[in-house]
Amino acid sequence: IRRKKDTMLSAHDFAAKLYHHLLRNTDHGENARNYLLNRQIQLATIEEFALGYSPDSWNTLLYQLEKREYPLPLMEEAGLLSRSENGERLFDKFRGRVMFPIHDSQGQVVAFGARALGDAQPKYLNSPETPLFNKSQLLFNLHRARTSIRKQQEAVLFEGYVDVISAWQAGIQNGVASLGTSLTEQQARIIRRNSEHVTICYDSDQAGTLAAFKAADLLEKAGCFVKVAQMPGGMDPDDYIRKYGGERFRNDILLHASSVMAFRLQVIRSRYALSDETERMQYIHEALTEISHLPSAVERDHYMRQLAEEFHLSLDALKLEQKKVFKTQK
Ligand code: GTP
Ligand code: MN
Ligand code: MN
Ligand code: MN
Ligand code: MN
Repeated sequence: IRRKKDTMLSAHDFAAKLYHHLLRNTDHGENARNYLLNRQIQLATIEEFALGYSPDSWNTLLYQLEKREYPLPLMEEAGLLSRSENGERLFDKFRGRVMFPIHDSQGQVVAFGARALGDAQPKYLNSPETPLFNKSQLLFNLHRARTSIRKQQEAVLFEGYVDVISAWQAGIQNGVASLGTSLTEQQARIIRRNSEHVTICYDSDQAGTLAAFKAADLLEKAGCFVKVAQMPGGMDPDDYIRKYGGERFRNDILLHASSVMAFRLQVIRSRYALSDETERMQYIHEALTEISHLPSAVERDHYMRQLAEEFHLSLDALKLEQKKVFKTQK
């Protein structure tokens, strides 16, 4: 098994170098180079992240692996090759895509994320689970970010590869991303092992907001102090950095991150038309319910006061109301 894994690792290392070479030095890579330049990803960043390109061909990698006598069925198991439906032929899994190598915590390439250059579906094609690659236990960029995370005792959690890369390019080097959809318990524990503080910086669309809620929960359960940073109007961190630059991203977004409760209240608030009296009351009740879930009396008091101030209510009245909420919960 050790031998098998070593061969898979060696093949990934080889594939990453091949894809990188094809991106940097060949005519095949021209569209991908332009694609990355258009996204304002600089050459130094392409080098740092060893980005690559898999040509739109069935056998570019296959041919090179064969030449080097890698056992092809094992390469299929490693997720580098795919098999035709009738089971007879193997071919390159990644074709015509920008390649993002995914490293394990020791810095070895164990998988790839692969983005279509245009609107082809799926937008991202990722390596399958393999003996090398356990998605739920890996964070993209952790091996690079770890030093910075430990030094600052602060990690920034993003949704996408490009967000991490864009932030890195802007000088924010403590960024990691969960791979694909939602953060897992194991990933939360890994973050906690490296840092007590985390800022979640997911896309500011509905999917991102929902995912941020869940991630915040998991991270708090893992023992982290969590903050949530939000971009305006449906942007993601990469969009924001490209439009406003890294300095503003750091100062206006990251350093303005709110507490998880403030984030919750804000999201709940956005669902009500507060100018309507009935809806306003509904919001206040829902907010009170949320606040009553807080384990700390000091924090409950803090948010109660804020709520009282916001709606010009007496704190006593709110507290009476909250007692009712408590009772109906029991
Ligand atoms: P760009 O369009 O390149 O800026 O991508 P993004 O990072 O903004 O993508 P998005 O916010 O849609 O998704 C965030 C992350 O989810 C990506 O980095 C991928 O890891 C993953 N993801 C997105 N689309 C797909 C998909 O079609 N398939 C899979 N398996 N994963 C995806
Ligand atoms: Mn290079
Ligand atoms: Mn998204
Ligand atoms: Mn996004
Ligand atoms: Mn994006």
